[in-house]
Amino acid sequence: MLVRRRHFLAGSVGVGAASVLGLELAGCGQSGPSNEWMVGAFLSLTGGDAQFGIDTQQGIQIAVEQINEAGGIKNKKMKVLFEDDKSLPNEVTNKVQQLIDRDKVVALLGEVASSRSKPGGIVASQKKIPMITPSSTNADVTKVGEWVFRVCFVDEFQGRVGAEFCVKTLGKKKIGLMFAENDLYSSGLANEFKKVIAELGGEIVKEAKFTDSETNFSTFINEMKAASPEVIYAPVYYKQMVQMNRQAINAGLTSDIFVGGDGWSGDEVLLKEMTGAHFTDHHAPDIPWDVSKKFVAVYEGKHKKKPSSLAAMGYDAALVLADAIKRAKEDTPKGIRDAIAETKNFPGVSGMITIDADRNAQKPIVVVQIKDGSTAYKAVHGPGSEALLGGAGAQPTATASAAAPPATASASAASSAAPSASAAVSASAAPATSAAPK
Ligand code: PHE
Repeated sequence: MLVRRRHFLAGSVGVGAASVLGLELAGCGQSGPSNEWMVGAFLSLTGGDAQFGIDTQQGIQIAVEQINEAGGIKNKKMKVLFEDDKSLPNEVTNKVQQLIDRDKVVALLGEVASSRSKPGGIVASQKKIPMITPSSTNADVTKVGEWVFRVCFVDEFQGRVGAEFCVKTLGKKKIGLMFAENDLYSSGLANEFKKVIAELGGEIVKEAKFTDSETNFSTFINEMKAASPEVIYAPVYYKQMVQMNRQAINAGLTSDIFVGGDGWSGDEVLLKEMTGAHFTDHHAPDIPWDVSKKFVAVYEGKHKKKPSSLAAMGYDAALVLADAIKRAKEDTPKGIRDAIAETKNFPGVSGMITIDADRNAQKPIVVVQIKDGSTAYKAVHGPGSEALLGGAGAQPTATASAAAPPATASASAASSAAPSASAAVSASAAPATSAAPK
C-alpha cells in the first residue's frame, strides 16, 4: 500500500512537471478514464500567491491519499493532476483547457483567488466539466454557469459577518476601509461590507483604494489616521496586508486596529506580525469538531505545522468531489456534476457543507484572532455552526451560534440560498465576544 501511494504521488508530480515542458504525455494513453478517476487541479503553485496554491495542494493530496488508501472510489483510484497557473489569471484558460482536452479529466478543482477561478469556470462551463473551487468567495465565480460549484461561503455572507463583528461585537462605529479596487475579491468584499455597515448605522470615515500591485501605503495610512477610525477593515490578500501593517505600525498604529477577510489566511509572516488583529475565515485549527481535529493531526504529522484554512478547503473540496463521484448515477462529468449539486450535510473539516441551488455552499464561517503566530477562533456563525462546535470538548462558544438546532439549520440551508445565511448571522452575531474562548 505504501509503495502504491509513493507511486501515486510521484506520478502526479511527474505529470505536472512534464506538462509544463510540452505535450509528451498527450498520446501516451496515460491512465485514461477507465482505470483511474482523473481530476485536474489548477492552482497558484508559484508567483505572488504561491502560498495559496501550495497549501491547497497539500490539503488535496492528503484527501487523495486517504481516499485511495481506503480503496478508491467505485474500485478506481483517484488521481489529481496539478497545473501551476503562476498566480496569473491569463494562464488559467490554457491550463484548464489542457487538463480537459489533453488529460481528459472528469472534474476540476481550483482556484483559490476569485479572479482566477472565474476564467477557469468559464472554460469548465464551455467544455461541460464540473469544477469545484475550494475557496473562491466572490459571488461572480459560480454565476458563470451550472458546472461551477464552491465548497466555501460567499462574500455576501463574509462581508456581513465582518461588518457585524466590527459594529456589534467590537462595538466600533467609525470605520476605515482599505482595499484593492482592481481585484474581484477585494473590491467585492469591500462593497458587501460597506452595505452592511450602513445598515447597522456605522460610518465609513475614510476609504482608501489602490491596485493589487501597490506596496507603498504610507499616504493612505496617514490619511486614514487623520480620520481617526476605531477599526480598519482591509479585505486584501496577505502580501499587501503585511506591507500595510508594517507601514501602519511605523505611523504609530497597532495591528489590532485591523479586521480582515479570508485573504489574510495561510501566511506565517502575517500571523507573526499581526497579533491582536481579527479576520473571518473558513477554518481554525482549534475548532473542536472531530472531523477537523483528525485532519489537523494528520496535516501536522506530515508538514510539522498547523494547516491553514486553504489546506482545509483543499481537503474538503477533494472529499466533496470524491463523495459526488461515488454517488453519481452515471460515471460521466454530467453525472458527477449532478451529484455535486445534490451534496447535503457533507461533514467537511470546515463544517457541514450543503450545496444550494446557486451552486454555493451553505455552511459556517469562523471569526479568528491572531495570537502567538497562529489563529484562535472567537466565534462561529451561520448554517451548521453549532455542529462545528458540538464535537468532543466543545467550547462554550456553542451558545453564541446556536441560532437553530442542527436539523433546522441544515434544512433551511438546503432549501434556500443567501437569505437563510444572513438570517442565521444576524441571530447569532451579537453575543460572539462573550463566547470567545481564552
Ligand atoms: N476568498 C479568496 C478569493 O476569493 C481567496 C482565499 C481563500 C484566500 C482562502 C485566502 C484564503 O479570492
